[in-house]
Amino acid sequence: MRSRAMSAVHTERTITVVLNGVPREATVPVRWLLSDALRHEFGLTGTHVGCEHGVCGSCTVLVDGEPTRSCLVLAVQVDGRQVTTVEGLSRPDHQGGQVLHPIQEAFRECHALQCGFCTPGFLTTIAAGLDARDASVEITDEEVDELVGGNLCRCTGYANIKKACRYAAASMREQAAR
Ligand code: FES
Ligand code: FES
Repeated sequence: MRSRAMSAVHTERTITVVLNGVPREATVPVRWLLSDALRHEFGLTGTHVGCEHGVCGSCTVLVDGEPTRSCLVLAVQVDGRQVTTVEGLSRPDHQGGQVLHPIQEAFRECHALQCGFCTPGFLTTIAAGLDARDASVEITDEEVDELVGGNLCRCTGYANIKKACRYAAASMREQAAR
Protein backbone atom coordinates (compact mmCIF):
# COMPACT_ATOMS: atom_id res chain seq x y z
CA MET A 1 0.00 0.00 0.00
CA ARG A 2 1.25 3.47 -0.82
CA SER A 3 -0.23 6.06 1.53
CA ARG A 4 -0.58 9.67 0.48
CA ALA A 5 1.47 10.70 3.56
CA MET A 6 4.38 8.55 2.37
CA SER A 7 4.07 10.24 -1.01
CA ALA A 8 4.07 13.81 0.27
CA VAL A 9 7.49 14.60 -1.12
CA HIS A 10 6.47 13.37 -4.56
CA THR A 11 4.79 15.42 -7.21
CA GLU A 12 1.07 14.94 -7.68
CA ARG A 13 -0.90 15.24 -10.85
CA THR A 14 -4.57 15.57 -11.65
CA ILE A 15 -5.99 12.94 -13.94
CA THR A 16 -9.43 12.44 -15.47
CA VAL A 17 -10.74 9.00 -16.34
CA VAL A 18 -14.04 7.54 -17.38
CA LEU A 19 -14.25 4.98 -14.60
CA ASN A 20 -16.94 2.34 -15.00
CA GLY A 21 -18.77 4.71 -17.34
CA VAL A 22 -18.59 7.75 -15.04
CA PRO A 23 -16.17 10.67 -15.62
CA ARG A 24 -13.95 11.01 -12.54
CA GLU A 25 -11.11 13.35 -11.60
CA ALA A 26 -8.43 12.79 -8.99
CA THR A 27 -5.13 14.24 -7.90
CA VAL A 28 -2.69 11.40 -7.30
CA PRO A 29 1.03 11.04 -6.60
CA VAL A 30 2.80 10.44 -9.90
CA ARG A 31 4.37 7.25 -8.54
CA TRP A 32 1.04 5.63 -7.71
CA LEU A 33 0.10 2.54 -9.65
CA LEU A 34 -3.33 2.32 -11.23
CA SER A 35 -4.14 -0.38 -8.65
CA ASP A 36 -3.28 2.09 -5.86
CA ALA A 37 -5.49 4.80 -7.33
CA LEU A 38 -8.43 2.46 -7.81
CA ARG A 39 -8.33 1.27 -4.22
CA HIS A 40 -7.12 4.31 -2.28
CA GLU A 41 -8.44 7.22 -4.32
CA PHE A 42 -11.58 5.85 -5.96
CA GLY A 43 -12.55 3.37 -3.23
CA LEU A 44 -12.94 0.44 -5.60
CA THR A 45 -11.74 -2.59 -3.67
CA GLY A 46 -12.83 -5.24 -6.18
CA THR A 47 -9.47 -5.15 -7.95
CA HIS A 48 -7.11 -7.42 -6.03
CA VAL A 49 -3.35 -7.08 -5.93
CA GLY A 50 -1.45 -10.35 -5.62
CA CYS A 51 2.06 -10.61 -7.03
CA GLU A 52 2.58 -6.92 -7.99
CA HIS A 53 4.81 -8.21 -10.79
CA GLY A 54 2.40 -8.70 -13.67
CA VAL A 55 2.31 -12.48 -13.24
CA CYS A 56 -0.90 -13.52 -11.45
CA GLY A 57 -3.46 -11.38 -13.28
CA SER A 58 -5.61 -10.76 -10.19
CA CYS A 59 -5.27 -6.98 -10.64
CA THR A 60 -6.53 -7.01 -14.24
CA VAL A 61 -8.84 -4.17 -15.29
CA LEU A 62 -9.86 -3.00 -18.74
CA VAL A 63 -8.23 0.13 -20.16
CA ASP A 64 -10.10 1.23 -23.26
CA GLY A 65 -11.54 -2.28 -23.29
CA GLU A 66 -8.17 -4.08 -23.20
CA PRO A 67 -7.22 -6.33 -20.25
CA THR A 68 -4.43 -4.52 -18.40
CA ARG A 69 -2.42 -5.40 -15.29
CA SER A 70 -3.17 -2.46 -13.00
CA CYS A 71 -0.03 -3.29 -10.97
CA LEU A 72 2.13 -2.51 -14.00
CA VAL A 73 0.55 0.79 -15.05
CA LEU A 74 0.93 4.15 -13.36
CA ALA A 75 -2.29 5.96 -12.57
CA VAL A 76 -1.11 8.97 -14.59
CA GLN A 77 -0.82 6.73 -17.67
CA VAL A 78 -4.59 6.28 -17.80
CA ASP A 79 -5.29 10.02 -17.89
CA GLY A 80 -8.01 10.55 -20.50
CA ARG A 81 -8.73 6.80 -20.88
CA GLN A 82 -11.68 4.56 -20.06
CA VAL A 83 -11.12 2.18 -17.18
CA THR A 84 -13.45 -0.67 -16.29
CA THR A 85 -13.04 -2.63 -13.07
CA VAL A 86 -14.95 -5.70 -11.94
CA GLU A 87 -17.49 -3.34 -10.36
CA GLY A 88 -18.27 -2.00 -13.85
CA LEU A 89 -18.97 -5.30 -15.62
CA SER A 90 -22.66 -5.38 -14.70
CA ARG A 91 -25.16 -3.09 -16.42
CA PRO A 92 -28.17 -1.23 -15.02
CA ASP A 93 -31.52 -2.78 -15.88
CA HIS A 94 -34.79 -0.94 -16.48
CA GLN A 95 -35.99 -1.44 -12.90
CA GLY A 96 -33.13 0.23 -11.07
CA GLY A 97 -31.23 -3.04 -10.55
CA GLN A 98 -28.14 -4.50 -12.18
CA VAL A 99 -27.75 -7.20 -14.82
CA LEU A 100 -24.62 -9.29 -14.37
CA HIS A 101 -22.29 -9.83 -17.31
CA PRO A 102 -22.81 -13.39 -18.65
CA ILE A 103 -19.43 -14.46 -17.26
CA GLN A 104 -20.39 -13.23 -13.78
CA GLU A 105 -23.62 -15.20 -14.02
CA ALA A 106 -21.64 -18.21 -15.26
CA PHE A 107 -19.15 -18.07 -12.38
CA ARG A 108 -22.10 -18.20 -9.99
CA GLU A 109 -23.80 -21.05 -11.84
CA CYS A 110 -20.66 -23.14 -12.31
CA HIS A 111 -19.11 -22.57 -8.86
CA ALA A 112 -16.01 -21.18 -10.55
CA LEU A 113 -14.44 -19.72 -7.42
CA GLN A 114 -13.34 -20.76 -4.00
CA CYS A 115 -11.47 -18.05 -2.03
CA GLY A 116 -12.33 -15.54 -4.77
CA PHE A 117 -9.04 -13.67 -4.68
CA CYS A 118 -8.30 -14.31 -8.35
CA THR A 119 -11.91 -13.87 -9.45
CA PRO A 120 -12.02 -10.15 -10.38
CA GLY A 121 -9.03 -10.60 -12.69
CA PHE A 122 -10.56 -13.65 -14.35
CA LEU A 123 -13.91 -11.89 -14.75
CA THR A 124 -12.52 -8.76 -16.40
CA THR A 125 -10.18 -10.73 -18.66
CA ILE A 126 -12.77 -13.27 -19.77
CA ALA A 127 -15.51 -10.64 -20.18
CA ALA A 128 -13.29 -8.67 -22.57
CA GLY A 129 -12.44 -11.82 -24.51
CA LEU A 130 -16.04 -12.94 -24.81
CA ASP A 131 -17.26 -9.44 -25.75
CA ALA A 132 -14.64 -9.25 -28.52
CA ARG A 133 -15.53 -12.56 -30.21
CA ASP A 134 -18.39 -13.43 -32.56
CA ALA A 135 -21.01 -14.61 -30.08
CA SER A 136 -22.87 -16.60 -32.74
CA VAL A 137 -19.96 -19.04 -33.13
CA GLU A 138 -19.55 -21.94 -30.71
CA ILE A 139 -16.51 -21.47 -28.49
CA THR A 140 -13.62 -23.94 -28.85
CA ASP A 141 -11.48 -25.53 -26.13
CA GLU A 142 -8.50 -23.61 -27.52
CA GLU A 143 -10.34 -20.32 -27.12
CA VAL A 144 -11.28 -21.21 -23.55
CA ASP A 145 -7.64 -22.09 -22.77
CA GLU A 146 -6.59 -18.74 -24.16
CA LEU A 147 -9.23 -16.87 -22.14
CA VAL A 148 -7.99 -18.29 -18.83
CA GLY A 149 -4.31 -18.82 -19.69
CA GLY A 150 -2.99 -15.46 -18.47
CA ASN A 151 -4.36 -15.66 -14.92
CA LEU A 152 -3.40 -17.76 -11.92
CA CYS A 153 -5.79 -19.46 -9.50
CA ARG A 154 -4.45 -21.37 -6.49
CA CYS A 155 -7.76 -22.96 -5.50
CA THR A 156 -10.00 -24.24 -8.26
CA GLY A 157 -7.81 -26.27 -10.59
CA TYR A 158 -9.37 -24.21 -13.42
CA ALA A 159 -11.95 -26.86 -14.41
CA ASN A 160 -14.95 -24.85 -13.24
CA ILE A 161 -13.52 -21.60 -14.55
CA LYS A 162 -13.31 -23.18 -18.00
CA LYS A 163 -16.81 -24.57 -17.53
CA ALA A 164 -17.99 -21.04 -16.75
CA CYS A 165 -16.38 -19.74 -19.96
CA ARG A 166 -18.30 -22.31 -21.98
CA TYR A 167 -21.52 -21.58 -20.05
CA ALA A 168 -21.19 -17.81 -20.67
CA ALA A 169 -20.31 -18.27 -24.34
CA ALA A 170 -23.34 -20.55 -24.79
CA SER A 171 -25.59 -18.02 -23.08
CA MET A 172 -24.23 -15.18 -25.29
CA ARG A 173 -24.74 -17.41 -28.34
CA GLU A 174 -28.33 -17.98 -27.33
CA GLN A 175 -28.88 -14.25 -26.91
CA ALA A 176 -27.27 -13.54 -30.29
CA ALA A 177 -29.68 -15.98 -31.94
CA ARG A 178 -32.79 -14.20 -30.62
S1 FES B 1 -0.95 -8.23 -8.91
FE1 FES B 1 -0.85 -7.54 -10.93
S2 FES B 1 -0.39 -9.30 -12.07
FE2 FES B 1 -0.32 -10.00 -10.02
S1 FES C 1 -10.42 -19.04 -6.15
FE1 FES C 1 -8.77 -18.83 -4.74
S2 FES C 1 -7.12 -18.15 -6.00
FE2 FES C 1 -8.71 -18.58 -7.40
